[in-house]
Amino acid sequence: MISRRVKSSKEDDDRLQSQLKLNGTIPVHIAIIMDGNGRWAKKRNLPRIAGHKEGVESVRDIVEVCGQLGVKHLTLYAFSTENWKRPKDEVSMLMRLLMNALRDETDRLHKNNVSVNAIGDIDALPIEVQNELNDAKTKTATNTGLQLHLALSYSGRWDLTEAIKKLAYDVKKGILQPDQIDTKAIEKYLATNGIPDPDLLVRTSGEFRISNFLLWQLAYSEIFISPVCWPDFRRRELYEAITDFQKRERRFGLVSEQLKEPLEGSSIIKK
Ligand code: FPP
Repeated sequence: MISRRVKSSKEDDDRLQSQLKLNGTIPVHIAIIMDGNGRWAKKRNLPRIAGHKEGVESVRDIVEVCGQLGVKHLTLYAFSTENWKRPKDEVSMLMRLLMNALRDETDRLHKNNVSVNAIGDIDALPIEVQNELNDAKTKTATNTGLQLHLALSYSGRWDLTEAIKKLAYDVKKGILQPDQIDTKAIEKYLATNGIPDPDLLVRTSGEFRISNFLLWQLAYSEIFISPVCWPDFRRRELYEAITDFQKRERRFGLVSEQLKEPLEGSSIIKK
C-alpha cells in the first residue's frame, strides 16, 4: 500500500500549512506524549526497538513542520523517570538511539534555526548522551526559531519535587519569604522556567492519560488524543490536532463574554 504521507506533494503541504495559518491561531507551545512505539512494532511482528526507530522519523517530521508553522516551543516526552524500570536492553537501546539521533540530527536542526533544550534529571542519563545533548545545546543555543525541549528522565512529580526542594532551601536561606510564594514564584523553580505553558497537548496511540508529564504546566492546555501510534504520527496528523485546537474556546475558567480581554496564563495572548 502506498502511504498517503509519502505521496503528498510539497505544494499540497504548503497549501495545508497556509490554510492552518489562515484558519486560526497556531499554538505557541505544543507538548507531545509520544506513545505506541511498542504496539506499532508488535503489530508488524518487529522488535520494540523498530517502533522506537520509526518514532525518530516522526520526531524529525514533526520538528520540521513545527518550525515551518511558526510554533515557538515543542516539548517531547522522550523518556520518563518511570521508563528506567523497563527491561535493561530496551533502556540501553533507547539511550543509544537518542544519542545517535542527537548526533545525526544536530546539523540539520541548526540549519533549520531550531534550538535544543532538555528538561529532566539529565545527570541520570549515560554520560555519552549527556555529551551529545550538551553539544546539541551549545551548537544551537543562539538559534531563534523553534525551541525543542526534550523531556528526558523527566516526570511531573520529579519536577515538582525538585522545585519544592529548591524553594524550601531558598526559604531557609531567607532569599524567599513564605508569603511571597505564589504561582509565579513556583514557576521559577520548575524545569520549564521561562517556557510558556503548553497550549496544546497531543497524546498518540489512543490512551487518555497524562502519565506524569507536565503536571503543573498542563493546567489549561487543550488535549488532543490521536488514535495513531507515534511511528505513524506525521505532519498530516499534527495538522488534524491543530485544526481541532483552533475550534476550541479557551476560557481559562472564565465565561465566553469575558474572553475579549487579554487573559493571564495564555501564552498565545501573552506573546
Ligand atoms: C513510548 O512508546 C515511547 C517511548 C518511551 C520512547 C520515545 C522515544 C523515541 C520516539 C525515540 C527518541 C526520541 C528522540 C527525541 C530523538 P511505548 O514504548 O511506550 O509504546 P507502547 O505503549 O506501545 O508499548
